[in-house]
Amino acid sequence: MDPVRNPYAPGAGQRPPELAGRDRELRQFEVVLERVARGRPERSMIITGLRGVGKTVLLNTFRSMAIQRLWGTGKIEARPEQSIRRPVAAALHTAIRELAPRHRAPDRIEEFLGVLKAFAQAEPPPSGRAKAPVHRWQPGINVPAARGRADSGDLEIDLTELFVDAASVATDLGVGIGLFVDEMQDVPPDDVSALCAACHELSQTGGPLIVVGAGLPHLPAVLSASKSYSERLFRYARIDRLDRDAADQALLAPAGREEVTFTPEALDALYEAADGYPYFVQAYAKVVWDLAPTSPITEHDIKVAAPEAESELAVGFFGSRYERATPAERDYMRAMAALGDEPVSTASVADELGRKPSSLSPARDGLIKKGLIFSAERGSVAFTVPHFGRFLREQPG
Ligand SMILES: Nc1ncnc2c1ncn2[C@@H]1O[C@H](COP(=O)(O)OP(=O)(O)OP(=O)(O)O)[C@@H](O)[C@H]1O
Ligand SMILES: [Mg+2]
Repeated sequence: MDPVRNPYAPGAGQRPPELAGRDRELRQFEVVLERVARGRPERSMIITGLRGVGKTVLLNTFRSMAIQRLWGTGKIEARPEQSIRRPVAAALHTAIRELAPRHRAPDRIEEFLGVLKAFAQAEPPPSGRAKAPVHRWQPGINVPAARGRADSGDLEIDLTELFVDAASVATDLGVGIGLFVDEMQDVPPDDVSALCAACHELSQTGGPLIVVGAGLPHLPAVLSASKSYSERLFRYARIDRLDRDAADQALLAPAGREEVTFTPEALDALYEAADGYPYFVQAYAKVVWDLAPTSPITEHDIKVAAPEAESELAVGFFGSRYERATPAERDYMRAMAALGDEPVSTASVADELGRKPSSLSPARDGLIKKGLIFSAERGSVAFTVPHFGRFLREQPG
């Protein structure tokens, strides 16, 4: 059928034509926004889940909901070993710029921007007495940096002060500020701890600023390892595969708007192939649409399209990730795959490879850092990518 009208959207962070099966999370977040804006004590939300289940898309939707309520918003994507100071400064700059035109006291905004600039510039010089001059961020803020606020160089103190001041600007307008953090498991440990502390402080004063995060399934463990009270700070929403009704809706609703439908057998076949994983649902549907001659799309059309959809996934979804791994890391993942699709103990991976567990720590840690596996619980590991074990088992050795 006409590829120009193809509604499906496989791709990282691509907004799906229909956000299916997330009503509960959307309702929860509505409540969070409402309560925070009214100064009620409220825990913020953290979305967790495997690769491709729709965390980024949901986080972006939460952000849109906040914008609709006239909140100021900003977003960062965390990277391993990168301090969040500059990205947070840039995100809050965006948030305040959204609020500024509605604020009646320009000097309040200017005052905040001065603090923001000071915060951004207070990056401590790299340790180890590096000689290189500290790179000065040019944030495009045309006010002098404030002194004595959010500029100590200690991220925990500075973030707390910055958040309190940002929240106070939002309070003037009767709205809130949302700071959205994607790939939150990659925030460096010291910064996680500072971020939690700042949120904690804010939750005590009732300031209307929330940090909303998204990350891999071990994110709650990362947070609680850094601050034991993090469990009381955040409400965790683990998102997963779509159930059958939601997966059907993800397919049928966008098709319906183009006056296209699927036979029940086609929907059966698609659910079996995509297993309810949002990325796979979009990927199969995209190819099926292009190859199917006419509506309704049939089971036969799915069979014809499956090999192409699978080879696109093999390259784009699985292959691109596999290629990030070193040879030793690939061996490690193949051993995991050979042991099945459930989380496996690191001891059994070592057994499988005929090696001492301690000698495999670098490979395991490397894979965790690259976000390819996560430690499901102490001493066990699992793939972050759905169906990755199956993909590896099908690869020639
Ligand atoms: N609720 C949904 N209904 C239908 N399609 C969805 C839904 N959520 C996400 N998708 C689709 O799934 C794909 C993956 O979404 P997204 O990039 O948000 O996943 P992710 O969890 O952030 O993955 P990663 O961990 O790799 O960053 C996109 O193509 C998106 O359009
Ligand atoms: Mg994502």
